[in-house]
Amino acid sequence: MARVWDWFVYDKALTTSVGSCHSIHHTSKMLPYFPFGQQFNDKMGTAPLSESDRLVEVDEHYLPEIDLKRQLLTELPSYYFQALPSYESAQWDVVNLVLHNLSRFQPAQFSLRVEGDNWHWHNHLLHEEITFTFGDGASLPQAPLDWVGRQVQEDLVLLSGDDATLVAGQLCFANDWSLDEKIGLPFWQIHAPIVPIVEPMMQAARKFMERLPSGRSFWRTNWSVKVSDQLDMTSRHTPALKQRLADRLPYLTPETIGQELFVRIERQTITRLPQSGAILFGIHTYQNLLAQEAADPERTRRMAQVFSTTPPAMLAYKGMTALMPALLSYLSDRHHSK
Ligand code: HEM
Repeated sequence: MARVWDWFVYDKALTTSVGSCHSIHHTSKMLPYFPFGQQFNDKMGTAPLSESDRLVEVDEHYLPEIDLKRQLLTELPSYYFQALPSYESAQWDVVNLVLHNLSRFQPAQFSLRVEGDNWHWHNHLLHEEITFTFGDGASLPQAPLDWVGRQVQEDLVLLSGDDATLVAGQLCFANDWSLDEKIGLPFWQIHAPIVPIVEPMMQAARKFMERLPSGRSFWRTNWSVKVSDQLDMTSRHTPALKQRLADRLPYLTPETIGQELFVRIERQTITRLPQSGAILFGIHTYQNLLAQEAADPERTRRMAQVFSTTPPAMLAYKGMTALMPALLSYLSDRHHSK
């Protein structure tokens, strides 16, 4: 196993610059993105991805995460993948972009040979090869977005039109939402009800989505703290996760909380697809045990600063209200004992 991931360790050292504005030095056991600064930030936090930045990231969790995704898609295909009719060309845009991106950044793991409309794809990590006709849905085993989503750890969502309506998605690892709830809704309604404190940010985000230039990618992060590290937190799990939080709450003392909670970070990318003009929203979910992040005093200090300045309505939205007393006391004890 170790040999398989040698390339990853090497590669990661070279590519931390992607997260440089949001992350600090980390070891492989720490989150690769750490979007906590001096205080709660109410800006949308989008930054351009450069030519040398990856659109999709492959890390040491690749195999188990792809396996989990495929299991979910087998069990409940129409819950985890949905597409409105007549957006097939946007789905092919995603195939084009993602396969070229993977093979450009990791040619030893992924290779793509394009001969006219005949495409040959070799995923060396999964030991899978396929030849298909670009643009011909019948030549792939699933819809194009569903197929390409099974090659990457990211959730992939497509938005289209002036109001950025959600028209298709493969969404397995969402944090408290699902395609059933959001498909067919425009950007603004996707985010409703909007916590008043972030309303200016969401207005800016709406304009940003409208004016997104073609062929360019941007990225941002989102954070939350969870009582479970299960990747699939789609809405069907919300009742069970709420129950788990209620059950664990009495045990979340400053002594135990570090082993009970997980910091969950989403690296989100936003790309206007050059051919169809649709928008691809990619979400890569990273998570780590709170105690592991809090092993770094600088990270402890920054989490304490951000959590203690996050408006209560935002904490409620993120489902963190009940955790806060124990969480803040844990972080401040650790910070002061260093
Ligand atoms: C610049 C772009 C964007 C910004 C600034 C933004 C910002 C936010 C913020 C502030 C929240 C509140 C929750 C939190 O912070 O934890 C949120 C939640 C959410 N965002 Fe976005 N977002 C953006 C793009 C998108 C896109 C393109 C989608 C497409 C599907 C999306 C889907 C969602 C969903 C589904 C939620 C959860 C809503 C719910 O609880 O029902 N976001 N976003």
